[in-house]
Amino acid sequence: MCGIVGYVGSKQALEVVVDGLRRLEYRGYDSAGVAVLDGTGPGAALQVERKAGKLANLEKVLVERELRGTLGIGHTRWATHGPPTDANAHPHLDCAGAVAVVHNGTIENYEELVAGLEARGHERRSDTDTEVVSHLLEERYATGPTAGDLAASLRSVCRDLQGSFVLVVAHRDEPDLVVAARRNLPLVIGLGDGENFVGSDVTAFIAHTREARAVEQDQVVEVRRDGVVVTDLDGLVVEGSSYHVDWDTDAAEKGGYDFFMLKEIDEQPGAVRDTLGGRLTPEGLLHLDELSMSDEDVRGIEQVFIVACGSAYHSGLVGKYAIERWCRLPVQVEMASEFRYRDPVLGRTTLVIAVSQSGETADTLEAVRHARAQKAWVLAVTNTVGSTISRESDAALYTRGGPEVAVASTKAVMTQITAMYLVGLYLAQLRGTRDPDEVRAHLRDLQEIPELIAELLTRMDAVRELAHELKDEQRVLFLGRHVGYPLALEGALKLKELAYVSAEGFPAGEIKHGPIALVEQGTPVVVIAPRHALQAKLLNNVQEVRARGARTIVLATDGDESAAAYAEHVVRLPDTKSLLTPLLTLVPLQVLSAEIARARGLDVDQPRNLAKSVTVE
Ligand code: AGP
Repeated sequence: MCGIVGYVGSKQALEVVVDGLRRLEYRGYDSAGVAVLDGTGPGAALQVERKAGKLANLEKVLVERELRGTLGIGHTRWATHGPPTDANAHPHLDCAGAVAVVHNGTIENYEELVAGLEARGHERRSDTDTEVVSHLLEERYATGPTAGDLAASLRSVCRDLQGSFVLVVAHRDEPDLVVAARRNLPLVIGLGDGENFVGSDVTAFIAHTREARAVEQDQVVEVRRDGVVVTDLDGLVVEGSSYHVDWDTDAAEKGGYDFFMLKEIDEQPGAVRDTLGGRLTPEGLLHLDELSMSDEDVRGIEQVFIVACGSAYHSGLVGKYAIERWCRLPVQVEMASEFRYRDPVLGRTTLVIAVSQSGETADTLEAVRHARAQKAWVLAVTNTVGSTISRESDAALYTRGGPEVAVASTKAVMTQITAMYLVGLYLAQLRGTRDPDEVRAHLRDLQEIPELIAELLTRMDAVRELAHELKDEQRVLFLGRHVGYPLALEGALKLKELAYVSAEGFPAGEIKHGPIALVEQGTPVVVIAPRHALQAKLLNNVQEVRARGARTIVLATDGDESAAAYAEHVVRLPDTKSLLTPLLTLVPLQVLSAEIARARGLDVDQPRNLAKSVTVE
C-alpha cells in the first residue's frame, strides 16, 4: 500500500502535499516523491522530485530545490513492482515529462501494456507497473477521441487496466485540474473552499478540511479549485454525499509521545468508551442500528464465520468464545487468506463477520466478496469509515478507535475485541439466548472497562523495567487458556513484529505436546493467568515450564496469590469478568513489546518489512 495526496487550490502545493505525505507515511515508507505544476500556458512545467528511503530523504532534497505552484501530487511508496530506488519512486512521467502519475496498487497486465508501448516507441525508465499509465495517458491525451481531455483520457486508460489501483494524475497543460481514479483501493476526496484534495485517507487533508467524500469502485474524480466532479468509467456524472470527519488534527499527530504506538496504547480507554458510546438504550440494552439486520435475519442465522488477518484474527478468536457462550451459535474463525480457498459451506443463514481496522486488507476484502457471492450475510467490523470492506459488506459496525498510525495494532485490536462482545450480546439479545437482565449486566461490566484500562496504564513502569531486562532475549513463549489463548497469540505477534524476536503463543494445555522442548534455562515464558475457572490447570502448565528452567512472567488478577506463587515477575491486572479479561491482558503485552523494541533502538511505529494495511494478496 502507499500514501497518495493530490491538491489544487491557492496555497503553495508543495507544503500541502508534503504535510499530507507525512501523515500518510505509515502506509508505506520505502520511497517518496512529488510533482508540482509551476505556471500556466506554454511555459508551464511539472517540477518533480523523488527519493528512495523515508520521506525525510525527499524533504532534504526539497530544501535545496523549492518547487513553486498551487497544484501538486505526492506519493509515499510501499514497493510491489521494482525495488525502492529513486528511479522507481513515484511520480512517474511520460516521455515528454508532461504527465505525472502516482499510484497505489498493482496493475496485473502491465507487462502486456509495456510491450505495446515499447513497440510504439515509448522509452521505459523504471521497473514499475505504474509507469505504463503515464505513457498511455500521453497517447490518449495527444490523439484520438479523448485528446485534450485529461479525465476522459484517464477513463480510457482505466478501462484497459487489470488489477487494483488508485491513480492520481497531473498534466502540464492542465493548471486547474488533478484527476484521480480508483479500483479496489481507498481514495477519498477532501472538499475545501477554493481548494480541493484527494488522498488515500482523510489524514492526508484533515489539517485543511473536514468535509470528505468517498470514491466508489471504478469512479474517476476531476478535482478543480472551484469544485469536484465524479464520473463512472463511461463519463456519466455520479452524484454523492460528503461526510464530516470528526477526528481532530491532533488525533493524527504524536502529541508529545516518542512513538504513535505509545500514544495509541494510552488512547485505549477512550477508544473503548467511544466504541461502546451511543449504542446502549436508556433501558441499558443494545441497539446496533448500523447492523441493519432485521430481527428475522438475526433469528435466521445458523452459523457464524469470523474472517480476518493478524491481530484482527486474534480478536475474532476472542469473539468465538463470547458469541458461542452467549448465542449458542457455532463460530468458525478463519484466516482471511485461507477462507475462500477451502470453499466453506456458506449460505443465507450464515453470518460472516469481516474484521479489519483499515477496511482495505486485500485478503479480508476478497473473503468478503466470496462470502457475498455465496449469499452469506456480511458484517464488516472496521475502524475506517468509507473503507472498501465496509462498503462491500451488507453492514458495517465501526470501532471508532480514531486514526491508528503505528503499524502495530493496539487500540484497533482492543476495539475489535470490544466490538466482538457487542455483536455477541446483540445477537443474544435479539435471539433471546440471554435474558435482558443478563445482557444489561454484561454491558455494565463492559462499561467499566475503560476505567480499568486507565488504571492498568498507571502500572506499566514495572513492565517497562521488565522490558529492559528482556531486551536481548531471542526466544519468548506466551501461554494462555480459554480467552487467554488468543491473547498469547497476540502477545507473540506483537513481540515478533516490533522487536523481531522469535516469539510463539500456545494454548497452555498444548505445551507438553511438543513446544515444551523449546524451554531452556532462563527462557522467558509469559503466562496470561487472570482469575479463571481453568486457572488450576494453567498453573500446572506453569510448573511444567518452571521445572525446566523457564523464567515465568505471570499476568495475574489483583489479590490472586495462587498465580503469583509461580512467577519470577507478576504483572497485576484489575479484576473483571473472565470473558472480558482480554481487554485488560492486552495492555501489558503491548507495552512489553513496544518497550523491548525501543530498548533495542528499533522504529516502534514502522517495523521493518511491514505496512499498516496489506492491500495486496
Ligand atoms: C497487527 O499488529 C498488524 N499490524 C497486522 O497483523 C494487522 O492486524 C493485520 O494486517 C490486519 O490489518 P487490518 O485490521 O487493517 O485488516
